[in-house]
Amino acid sequence: MRVLGLLSLAMAVCCISAKVPSIKLYTGYEMPQIGLGTWQAKGDSVRQAVKDALEIGYRHIDTAFIYGNEKEVGEGIHQQIQKGVLKREDLFITTKVWPDGCNRQKALEMIKHSLKELNVTYLDLVLVHFPHDDYANTYQGLEDAYNQKLVRSIGISNFMKSHIDHVLKTAKVKPAVNQINIHPTLNQDETVAYCNKLGIAVTGYSPLGTGSMIKDPTLTSIGAKHHKSSAQVAIRWQIERNLITIPKSVNKKYIKEDFEVFDFKLTADEIKTINNMKA
Ligand SMILES: NC(=O)c1ccc[n+]([C@@H]2O[C@H](COP(=O)([O-])OP(=O)(O)OC[C@H]3O[C@@H](n4cnc5c(N)ncnc54)[C@H](OP(=O)(O)O)[C@@H]3O)[C@@H](O)[C@H]2O)c1
Ligand SMILES: *[C@@H]1O[C@H](CO)[C@@H](O)[C@H](O)[C@H]1NC(C)=O
Repeated sequence: MRVLGLLSLAMAVCCISAKVPSIKLYTGYEMPQIGLGTWQAKGDSVRQAVKDALEIGYRHIDTAFIYGNEKEVGEGIHQQIQKGVLKREDLFITTKVWPDGCNRQKALEMIKHSLKELNVTYLDLVLVHFPHDDYANTYQGLEDAYNQKLVRSIGISNFMKSHIDHVLKTAKVKPAVNQINIHPTLNQDETVAYCNKLGIAVTGYSPLGTGSMIKDPTLTSIGAKHHKSSAQVAIRWQIERNLITIPKSVNKKYIKEDFEVFDFKLTADEIKTINNMKA
């Protein structure tokens, strides 16, 4: 009975995660299209959310130095590794360097701090969190970490065209990802197209508008046609645009719901309607 239970759990984990599509970064690494966001999640609740997500099948976690939760995120990850739910190499971990008052040397130190907090020997992706202060110099610290093999891919966040152009003037390692705010009333078409042209993958953050999209009547009515929630429609819309998306919740029911977006498809008309939604 116990063996059978374990077996079916292992199979469920295997087959759920096998269904999650990924985006191949130019660095050669695969980035799962859905990850768990962890902004404003701290302490026990974020540790538990990470554990729940990994059990449900998530293989991608998004954190940041400034979130002050890397230690608990790391604990959640390691508890599930010890339980045999996954291996480190099955997981994609993103963190971000806080740019205010930062520079090349401090950025490298911040990354080493994140490695220690998360208790891992490498990170999958590190981003410059915002284009603040001397962000091109801060980005060079990420390049140092990349060359030292502390980080598999590096990138940027909240960078619009002019910021991308500026960082590319001095970059020796092209950013693999740009993480920007995308939700149904902020489709970011121009920046997404610019990144696509440059071979930079795009992650859409705050896919639920930090919760503000949940009650949206357009998303709710589209969802009703598919027996899905507004949240699932907003997340699916990003998947179908070939974006990576990182919904956040600390509630197991929502974490599971947000992951169940691979068993339906939006129609071309529905996608068009969402693309044209206005704030
Ligand atoms: N790079 C950047 O500058 C940046 C900026 C913002 C966010 N991010 C990243 O993107 C992640 C996601 O963005 P976000 O945290 O702003 O918000 P979000 O994912 O757009 O929305 C999260 C909110 O929606 C609620 N929620 C989640 N799933 C739900 C569901 N199925 N039904 C109803 N409510 C649901 C959550 O509730 P509960 O948590 O209470 O369950 C939470 O209040 C962040 O956590 C962070 O990792 C990055
Ligand atoms: C850190 O990781 C190691 C394995 O790499 C593990 O044995 C140890 O328990 C982890 N520590 C914490 C606090 O999770």
